[in-house]
Amino acid sequence: MSTDAIVLLKDDHKEIRKVFKDFEDAGENAKATQGRLVDKMLELLTVHTYIENEVMYPRVRELLPDVEDDVLESYEEHHVADVLCMELAAMSPDDERFVAKTTVLIESVRHHMDEEEQEWFPQVREGLGRKQLQELGAQMLEAKEKAPRRPSQPSALKKAVDAIIS
Ligand SMILES: [Fe+2]
Ligand SMILES: [Fe+2]
Repeated sequence: MSTDAIVLLKDDHKEIRKVFKDFEDAGENAKATQGRLVDKMLELLTVHTYIENEVMYPRVRELLPDVEDDVLESYEEHHVADVLCMELAAMSPDDERFVAKTTVLIESVRHHMDEEEQEWFPQVREGLGRKQLQELGAQMLEAKEKAPRRPSQPSALKKAVDAIIS
């Protein structure tokens, strides 16, 4: 099985995009379905931003100074997503702002994933090469095992706090 870091991250993106689409297709009155899909979104996003923040971004920043600005912007976009995820986790699908907040989360994460895939992952592939991407991917799979799955778990909160104070 390939552990290429970019392949793994793009697979995650694909799964996330699918849940976004399902949410949009669920229809305004399907509260239970919307609630279930948002739970799924929060889990996927919490795990995904964790492995990028903890493993991929720091390593890329260290090895490829040229993409440092993209990495810094990405940390900030993750932070915005973290805030929305935490708020959504505390909300009920009946809340009048639930769909609006989810829509903003979807729009901002789609934009973020597009930028990663189109603007700087290709430079990472070029700069790191096959072997380093395989190693990075293996480390991400390991990190995935211990990753938080809910925005309220301590390691997810730590990530959110680090983004504010560091
Ligand atoms: Fe990201
Ligand atoms: Fe990503």
